[in-house]
Amino acid sequence: MCPHPGPTLIPPRGPHATGFSLANMAPPSDDDDSRFMRRALRLAERGRGRTHPNPMVGAVVARAGRVVGEGWHRAIGLDHAEVEALARAGARARGATMYVTLEPCAHTGRTPPCVEALERAGIARCVVALRDPHRIVNGRGIRSLRRAGIRVDVGVGADEARDLLGGYWLAHTRRRPRVTWKVAATLDGRIADRAGRSRWITGPEARAHGHRLRATADAVLIGSGTARADDPRLTARAVGAARQPLRVVCDSALELPLTLRLFGAALARGTVVACGPSAPLRRRRALEARGVTVWPLPLRAGRVSPAALARRLAREGRYEVLLEGGATLGTAWLRAGLVDRVALFTAPRLLGADGLAWCGALGVGSLRRARAGRIVQQRRLGADGFLLVDLAAREPGVGMGSAG
Ligand SMILES: NC(=O)c1ccc[n+]([C@@H]2O[C@H](COP(=O)([O-])OP(=O)(O)OC[C@H]3O[C@@H](n4cnc5c(N)ncnc54)[C@H](OP(=O)(O)O)[C@@H]3O)[C@@H](O)[C@H]2O)c1
Repeated sequence: MCPHPGPTLIPPRGPHATGFSLANMAPPSDDDDSRFMRRALRLAERGRGRTHPNPMVGAVVARAGRVVGEGWHRAIGLDHAEVEALARAGARARGATMYVTLEPCAHTGRTPPCVEALERAGIARCVVALRDPHRIVNGRGIRSLRRAGIRVDVGVGADEARDLLGGYWLAHTRRRPRVTWKVAATLDGRIADRAGRSRWITGPEARAHGHRLRATADAVLIGSGTARADDPRLTARAVGAARQPLRVVCDSALELPLTLRLFGAALARGTVVACGPSAPLRRRRALEARGVTVWPLPLRAGRVSPAALARRLAREGRYEVLLEGGATLGTAWLRAGLVDRVALFTAPRLLGADGLAWCGALGVGSLRRARAGRIVQQRRLGADGFLLVDLAAREPGVGMGSAG
């Protein structure tokens, strides 16, 4: 976080400087800044799963230590958070401070530029958690605000805001989505019995949470092994999903049977098969005739390159990816440095070494070199446990190395 230089409140300049007195307003403190930004971050969270491809954003208008307006980006095409917060604040926005989790936009997209709305409302100071990495914003909003005489402080709550943006941040800074590997395992880390059966390891509460994770993902990713063994639908069910994630299957040589549910009339549209560049054209045509989209991509070690698929997903605006594949695909993505988080459901049951382990060899060798993570969520779901672990993923091509 970069601290803002001090608590002085700069009065508005230019056309908005009239009719407002600073005399009875206490200047905002660092505490106020953190408090109001935390509130803005919580508001932003309400848009989760509904704003795609826009980021989640929250905004608070505060004056004399009190909130006078707040808003969040509710859904694509609807008002941006800043505009909503200003509408709530009305005339009280004049001379007030706007707290916003992401740099306001300076361009006309589906809605008019937010910086103009801030200017018109007479906002005196704008506290921004993060500069928007999107190439059409990226500093322009901040510069426009400053040009309009609005004081801008950037960096309050930056880490939390980056975390909130997740895949949007990664897609615009590193051209790849955020990948969460979802695993449902027994206490001893087994995801299927010796015959490959995995239904059901966890109970209904855990499975319902799995559907909630799908509902907030932009894409769900599996390998051909899981497609064959489980014939899944990969839809978010019974959780009031605003939209369904894109369903993506990695099938390097297009060998999966066309009878899978993913390729049936109900699911073919919205399903993508990623394959190698020389997968049989005849198979490709058969899938496309059903409405399935085929992405021919480069291979790595004879299989769909994780890096190439990650780039393609980001380019398609799929910023949050839930990897629901088996150990083969998940381990390959982990080794490629492309798994950012693990969402681990643990059932209090034991299958022993006869069962299938959820993670393959990582080439780590010693405990000292083990990949370290940080638990960011833990809860109980019925009889099962749930952990969300942030792995602080590294760039593709970098080995497991020391995790620091
Ligand atoms: N409990 C759970 O959470 C859970 C979740 C998922 C699966 N499962 C279980 O896991 C078992 C299936 O395991 P699995 O490991 O075979 O499934 P998988 O990881 O989903 O699929 C593996 C296949 O994906 C294809 N693939 C394409 N690109 C790849 C790449 N870059 N790296 C690795 N693989 C790539 C490969 O086939 P091609 O070479 O033909 O492309 C590979 O054989 C089933 O028993 C299933 O029930 C359990």
